Amino acid sequence: MEIRRAQSGEFLAGLTPVSHYFGSVPAEENVRRFERVLRSERMHVAEEDGTIVGGASAFEFQFTVPGAIVPAAGVTIVGVLPTHRRQGILTQLMRAQLDDVHERGEPVACLWASEETIYGRYGYGMAALCGEIELQRVYGSFRKPVEHGGTFRLLSYEEALEAIPPVYARVAAETPGMFARPREWWEVRALHDSEARRDGAGEMVRVVLERDGEGIAYALYRLKMGFEAGSSTGEVRVLEAMGVSPEATAGIWRFLLDVDWMDSVQAEILPVDHPLFLLLEHPRRLRFRLADSLWLRLVNVGAALSARSLEGDVALEVGDAFCPWNDARYSLDGSKTMEDSDLRLDVADLATVYLGGFTFAQLQRAGRVEELTEGAIARADAAFWTDRAPWCPEIF
Ligand SMILES: CC(C)(COP(=O)(O)OP(=O)(O)OC[C@H]1O[C@@H](n2cnc3c(N)ncnc32)[C@H](O)[C@@H]1OP(=O)(O)O)[C@@H](O)C(=O)NCCC(=O)NCCS
Repeated sequence: MEIRRAQSGEFLAGLTPVSHYFGSVPAEENVRRFERVLRSERMHVAEEDGTIVGGASAFEFQFTVPGAIVPAAGVTIVGVLPTHRRQGILTQLMRAQLDDVHERGEPVACLWASEETIYGRYGYGMAALCGEIELQRVYGSFRKPVEHGGTFRLLSYEEALEAIPPVYARVAAETPGMFARPREWWEVRALHDSEARRDGAGEMVRVVLERDGEGIAYALYRLKMGFEAGSSTGEVRVLEAMGVSPEATAGIWRFLLDVDWMDSVQAEILPVDHPLFLLLEHPRRLRFRLADSLWLRLVNVGAALSARSLEGDVALEVGDAFCPWNDARYSLDGSKTMEDSDLRLDVADLATVYLGGFTFAQLQRAGRVEELTEGAIARADAAFWTDRAPWCPEIF
């Protein structure tokens, strides 16, 4: 078994192990789309007797963490063929990939896990949650009217390519867990209206909310029309919606909740602190369901701590069995220290609190951090405090 970087021309072979689990060989068109956003040198493969039986890749993200934007590996297309499972191939791929990420100087790596049992052993921690809603429109009233002062415009694909990215960029820059989307990403992913993804609904609709000629919010959604006993069962399926300010966010959601003839509004991958909870008269009717979203790996703990906004005096003792270069005591500025530790925890658990999605107090209640100095949990929580929950609006 050889673990190595993919060579040019091996893109399809590298995608195949994971595609196997989607029940198909990747279409030529999908391979070409992937090639536009993923550099083949970021693809690692496992080869046996001339056949690629496993693969793991990484996008190159500019990734928002509290107070900073850092380069990050966006881990994707991980798979090992069922003929070769549980022989340690994923472990070897993760070894090669994390060493590579470390050498490249990307302080963190992130991913969406197909199963939550897979990545903890490699030092990834669950770092953000997300929510799913299904709201009957009759319960869609707000507590008070929204005043956004703007106008809505439906967009063609070409218009959307111009109007939407600047809005996204503003939100991404201030939301931990989001990453910058280059133009190719919009073309082949975010605005790509794949028929395979419609699931019985219509084409992607793109709408922007503008004030004084400037985009302040947008939504991507599909309509799924239906009737039962003469009444509409139509659904607004929200793919993505966001705004640059509270008024803009409320405005775009008001728009989505007011699409005539529809019966319900559905959305997945919402931030857990979504303002809808406090905007709606009937928040319970959201039927909000929680799940884990982004998993994070601090590949270089010192660099990750020094990049993040952190103020305070707490010495952290971090254990990292898979990446021993991280195994050390740290001050919050990221420097290694000889001081006595105040807290002791595993690197995956530090990743869990890093984006602000969980607290040290929560870790403590789950027995995942040791408080060595009295009051250190509270001091660490004060240092790691953020004003919003991390949010990654997209599975990659
Ligand atoms: C997940 C997957 C890549 C694992 O590959 P693999 O080569 O079988 O993994 P390894 O043999 O290196 O396993 C290493 C360890 O992880 C464990 N493990 C691997 N996958 C696991 C899973 N899905 N659930 C629980 N444990 C798992 C193994 O039991 C092994 O544990 P051990 O070290 O205690 O013996 C493979 O099963 C797969 O392709 N699954 C379908 C596609 C998928 O889910 N990809 C991930 C997308 S995010």
